[in-house]
Amino acid sequence: MSRTLFVTTALPYANGSFHIGHIMEYIQADIWVRSMRMSGHTVYFICADDAHGAPIMLKAEKEGLSPDKLVKLYTRERKKYLNGFQIEFDHWHSTNSAENRQLCCDTYYLLKKNGFIETRSIEQFYDPINGMFLADRYIKGECPKCHGKDQFGDSCELCGAIYSPDELIQPYSDLSGTKPIKRFSEHVFFKLSDPNCIKFLKNWVAGKNSSGNFHLQTEVQAKTYEWLGIGKNKSSLKDWDISRDYPYYGIEIPDQPGKYFYVWLDATIGYLSSLKAYCTLKKIDFESLIAPNSNTEQIHFIGKDIIYFHTLFLPAILKFSGRKTPDTLNVHGFITINGEKMSKSRGIGICPMQYLKIGMNPDWIRYYFASKLNHRIEDIDFNFQEFTSRVNGDLIGKYINIASRTSNFITKCFNGVLDYEEETQKILLDDIKHRTNSVRLLIENRNYRYAVREIMNYADHINQNIDTAKPWVLNKATENLKNERNQLQHACSNALAGFKALTVMLCPILPKLTTCIAKNFLKLILILNGKMQVSCLKIYCHSSILWNELIQK
Ligand code: MSP
Ligand code: ZN
Repeated sequence: MSRTLFVTTALPYANGSFHIGHIMEYIQADIWVRSMRMSGHTVYFICADDAHGAPIMLKAEKEGLSPDKLVKLYTRERKKYLNGFQIEFDHWHSTNSAENRQLCCDTYYLLKKNGFIETRSIEQFYDPINGMFLADRYIKGECPKCHGKDQFGDSCELCGAIYSPDELIQPYSDLSGTKPIKRFSEHVFFKLSDPNCIKFLKNWVAGKNSSGNFHLQTEVQAKTYEWLGIGKNKSSLKDWDISRDYPYYGIEIPDQPGKYFYVWLDATIGYLSSLKAYCTLKKIDFESLIAPNSNTEQIHFIGKDIIYFHTLFLPAILKFSGRKTPDTLNVHGFITINGEKMSKSRGIGICPMQYLKIGMNPDWIRYYFASKLNHRIEDIDFNFQEFTSRVNGDLIGKYINIASRTSNFITKCFNGVLDYEEETQKILLDDIKHRTNSVRLLIENRNYRYAVREIMNYADHINQNIDTAKPWVLNKATENLKNERNQLQHACSNALAGFKALTVMLCPILPKLTTCIAKNFLKLILILNGKMQVSCLKIYCHSSILWNELIQK
């Protein structure tokens, strides 16, 4: 049965270039989307820049630019990265758009009408010099536990203590250095703690989608249960503060002049407005895709640091504004580099643009990520040596090698004509069908690592068959011995049928290489042989790559 899928990745903050973590998330989702498309499903693969919020506003101020200008610097380079890594979103939008402003305001009114919005006065730290309220991360001071100096308003990097900014000793504004004062201001809240909301969330978190799978991975479910206070008597959820006071770079709340939607509210709605913009372009009925009874499956790929927003706020906001709720949340872990946490300041990271600039093949990194990713939220270590050996050992040593070892004979001895032994042909086809289906299911369940393992096991199997048949020996006898000649043609044809099947299985992971092979395969093995040499060269990943050149600057 053909399914309709609305797939997103997290909307990246538009105050920086993509780093390798972003690219990994997009590649993970792109592999999945390509595979689902190959299975005949309709996919809307959507993302956007997350353009609002205090950090963007403050960075722009620091650089003497308007926030709009700053955001543009980064948004206009997005395509280069996406094209470079063969990541094919249907649409890339921005939260700083007319569609998002409209949809945020509509959603706000719907939530309000349904009784989920409340305003309340709260007391917060305020920087009298900068004239703005301070988020926790902009307040610093002495840690109340270990007395370490210059710690953030919400947690201490030295001893790991978690506290509220009120507990900091001698707090100061990180923006102006002055002592912040306490001030009251009206804030708008989404009533996350409403009993109806808690009830809905408890159900949703435990729930399954139409494919019979849980909305959430086991680890994610457990975490969310904790937040919901399941097991304890009472939910520990607080209402969600969705407003920020001027000055703020964001969307003004329609009936609250001088107040803006908190960036996470407008980014959450941003998923929908980006889809809406795409639907307008393609003349697709947007409302029917997001209606509560819609058959469209809504799937979000995100990293483990933003689970809270996606298991609580996102479903709640959608539910109580009368829309369909997410079907699946696919959470991945973080990338580490050679065992270390990514860090710009310490020069630990891989610059994706540099990767492309020095001419490295996007398929290599896609393959490498695929060989490591699974459906859990474990971190993934990017190891330079392992990368090189995976690419060379698997892609060339196993996969391409099959064509290199056999296509030559078909070209030279049989004019490019494939021929199969009748009795074994059905067995071969059944085997291929079985293996392809198993790989397809593994990819659908996001067990890429195991899919890759199965693919390579098959490549090993084909190579062993070639070893057994010894085409190079049979070739010596071909001139006059009919039997050997047939055996040679059959063995090579079988191997190439396997190669073709492998190419199909690898399609979602290696779009560039497999497209090139597919184009040439149809034109028969004759030219495949010539082309194959070229592909081999292109695919070879020299171990002398200057990994230093790839360090994120
Ligand atoms: N703007 C928010 C998301 C809003 S979604 C409504 C945000 N942006 S982000 O740019 O910080 O992160 C975007 C995605 O990249 C997130 O899913 C995040 O988990 C992921 N990653 C950020 N660092 C990462 C790694 N080191 N490794 C893997 N993924 C990482 O959060
Ligand atoms: Zn401390």
